[in-house]
Amino acid sequence: MKKDITYLHSKKKQHQPITVLTCYDYPTACLQDDANIDIVFVGDSVGTNILGYKSEMEVTMADMLHHLKAVRRGVTYAYLLVDMPYASDQNSKQAVANANLFLDNGADAVKLEGGTEKVPIVTALTEQEIDVCAHIGHTPQIHGTRASTHGKTVANAKELIQTASALEDAGAKLIVLEKITEEISRIITDTLDIPTIGIGAGRYCDGQVLVINDVLGIGTSFRHAKRYQDYNQLTFEAICQYKQEVQNGDFPTDANVAHIATDKLARVQKWLESER
Ligand code: KIV
Repeated sequence: MKKDITYLHSKKKQHQPITVLTCYDYPTACLQDDANIDIVFVGDSVGTNILGYKSEMEVTMADMLHHLKAVRRGVTYAYLLVDMPYASDQNSKQAVANANLFLDNGADAVKLEGGTEKVPIVTALTEQEIDVCAHIGHTPQIHGTRASTHGKTVANAKELIQTASALEDAGAKLIVLEKITEEISRIITDTLDIPTIGIGAGRYCDGQVLVINDVLGIGTSFRHAKRYQDYNQLTFEAICQYKQEVQNGDFPTDANVAHIATDKLARVQKWLESER
């Protein structure tokens, strides 16, 4: 059964953790869908993780559409969420037009970063029946790549709690809490009806999201993440072994090649001789 927002909300009510991973390509989308991940998320972290950009602010609508289309082809059951890239949601008209582009290309919902300044945008999208996932705490499009923890002071904690409620009231259907103290994430999770999805936000969110590169061990490691595989090392070893085998003449072997039938080869050779 294809997962929808009602299903995700029912998981919160039943205290079943929601699983979310970022995804940028077709083969990984197939694997995440096969593994029954709830939300496959085309994040703008594609910029720094795949495209070699210095920051999320370089990611364009064209980049997001390109990766969304690839991921879409691999997803059958998961809820497909896509990030609104930097400056693609500056006003309601622009946000609705860009979000509709994503929906036309298979997204189930859009995620946008920001606090109360994004309330009118969330309202406008919701009025157009576009599902929105909000995102507060550390927001790379606003704070850049250097992440600090939010919710450590009383003033900031109150602001986060109020902002989360305002975004829910505006119609957000989900909310990502990034780099927020565990205690404040827990209060937000208990206060809101919509599911909270944490990243570096502790154990009490309704779901967890990680960047797939961090899970696989591609690139640098982070405290909030966990490496389930050392893909850097595995990939490097495979590349070195391939290079060595080509240099040694150990690849390809007979198992990797195709042959022409002996009688046909003889005819080709005879023809070659006659041509000389
Ligand atoms: O783009 C992304 O990877 C994100 C996650 C940090 C949630 O927004």
